[in-house]
Amino acid sequence: MKIPAEFLAQIALWLRGGCLRHRRVRTAAAATGLLALLLAVACANLDRSVVAPLHIAGATHLGSAACADCHAEQSRWFASSPHGRRDRGGADWAPVAGCESCHGPGSRHAATSSPEWIINPRREPEACLQCHIHTAAEFRLPSHHPLVEGRIDCVSCHDPHGTEILKPAGGLAMARENAACGACHREQHRPFVFEHEALREGCTVCHAPHGSIHGRLLTAPGNHLCLKCHAQNQTATGQIIIGKVDHTASLRLGGCYTAGCHMAVHGSNLQPKLRY
Ligand code: HEC
Ligand code: HEC
Ligand code: HEC
Ligand code: HEC
Ligand code: HEC
Ligand code: HEC
Ligand code: HEC
Repeated sequence: MKIPAEFLAQIALWLRGGCLRHRRVRTAAAATGLLALLLAVACANLDRSVVAPLHIAGATHLGSAACADCHAEQSRWFASSPHGRRDRGGADWAPVAGCESCHGPGSRHAATSSPEWIINPRREPEACLQCHIHTAAEFRLPSHHPLVEGRIDCVSCHDPHGTEILKPAGGLAMARENAACGACHREQHRPFVFEHEALREGCTVCHAPHGSIHGRLLTAPGNHLCLKCHAQNQTATGQIIIGKVDHTASLRLGGCYTAGCHMAVHGSNLQPKLRY
């Protein structure tokens, strides 16, 4: 069974956060052996330098209900959002679920209403990455969206409080629709006379949104990317056929989109074979 890294991170947070405040709970839980096992698994799998509960000097957790008084807008759909639906309410669960899992302990902020005493993950994506350690690693791959560099943030593509986190706030479902990417990349998202039907499956069939080991955020290197959908067949006489066309000679020239044959991978206004 593969345990998602997010849950391991959460368990570690819960054990650490919860344990310190409720020593007796820990002893009882450890006695069952189960949580001890989970902890062992968690520690073996986690980079603990990344997994640290959010900290705000002198502040304690209140639980999500305390935020709703002043923030009705963010609280409205939160209970059925991917993060909110694991919230059990109350201060105990606050570090791992609920508003304060992303915004940090809120007591000083609630008392002062000052933005100084609360974390905004748009400006501090580390708040998200403490749990999403896999995503954190993706943003450090050789080709990545410039998040660490501060030129893009999680909210450019994810709605943190809504029922569907893969939608940007107020936008279309982005994994299927390309509008969210098109907001910044108009050139690739505009209508083409000769469209490349691959784009109907979404930009993410070819691009990893966070980062990739392949250049240009591509999901596969070189011709492999194209051959995922365009089958390559070899005839008995040794010809290589792609898309009903004999490619034996052209493949010797180089890659599908690097050798000058199909440079307009996103679509073309001039040439149906996506040449330019
Ligand atoms: C007594 C009312 C009150 C309570 C309770 C309250 N807030 Fe706020 N919060 C405010 C006000 C007012 C602002 C706007 C501050 C500003 O922009 O000057 C704000 C701003 C924020 C911001 C934006 C900060 C920024 O810099 O962008 C976040 C995030 C936030 N609150 C989260 C929370 C969370 C989480 C809780 C529950 C732990 C909470 N708030 C409880 C009044 C409150
Ligand atoms: C998954 C992490 C996450 C959780 C959980 C979360 N938020 Fe946020 N919150 C964010 C991010 C990211 C932003 C920045 C959004 C933006 O700028 O559009 C934000 C912004 C805010 C703001 C400032 C809004 C503004 O327009 O500046 C408030 C207030 C807020 N959150 C309150 C809450 C409350 C209340 C809850 C619980 C009901 C909550 N958040 C739960 C991630 C989260
Ligand atoms: C306290 C740990 C924690 C924090 C902080 C956190 N997440 Fe999550 N997140 C989770 C867990 C656990 C899940 C899995 C929820 C589920 O599957 O029910 C999840 C799910 C998601 C998903 C949906 C994945 C899917 O397959 O549907 C996205 C996207 C996401 N988080 C983005 C963010 C962003 C953006 C932030 C910061 C604004 C953030 N998370 C902060 C723990 C966290
Ligand atoms: C350029 C847009 C973009 C940005 C910026 C972005 N994401 Fe994503 N994210 C996506 C898309 C698109 C998916 C869906 C991937 C898919 O369907 O293959 C996704 C999926 C996820 C998932 C689900 C697991 C996975 O990897 O498929 C998590 C968790 C997540 N993002 C967290 C984050 C966090 C945390 C941040 C900020 C630190 C962030 N994302 C920034 C576009 C983005
Ligand atoms: C908030 C704006 C924004 C959004 C939304 C956005 N990007 Fe980007 N994208 C950028 C920036 C900034 C760069 C870096 C450009 C540079 O370095 O010149 C970039 C670079 C890229 C690159 C080129 C990487 C390279 O190595 O040259 C690709 C491919 C890409 N984005 C695809 C996507 C896809 C797919 C989506 C939707 C899932 C998306 N982008 C959403 C801002 C955005
Ligand atoms: C069929 C696969 C495929 C799909 C689908 C796709 N791309 Fe690309 N994209 C590529 C390839 C291949 C390159 C690299 C081209 C090159 O290096 O000459 C690329 C390059 C890019 C670049 C970098 C452009 C540059 O000149 O550096 C951006 C930005 C980009 N794509 C955005 C998008 C967006 C946004 C979408 C969705 C609307 C999308 N792509 C859909 C294959 C695809
Ligand atoms: C997600 C699947 C997918 C991927 C990946 C993909 N394509 Fe396509 N492509 C299609 C579909 C569907 C069509 C339209 C049906 C057809 O002609 O096969 C198409 C059509 C084409 C056409 C026009 C064919 C004609 O006869 O009109 C060319 C050229 C092409 N693709 C090249 C590429 C190149 C180059 C790559 C790699 C960068 C690539 N494709 C990656 C799905 C894909």
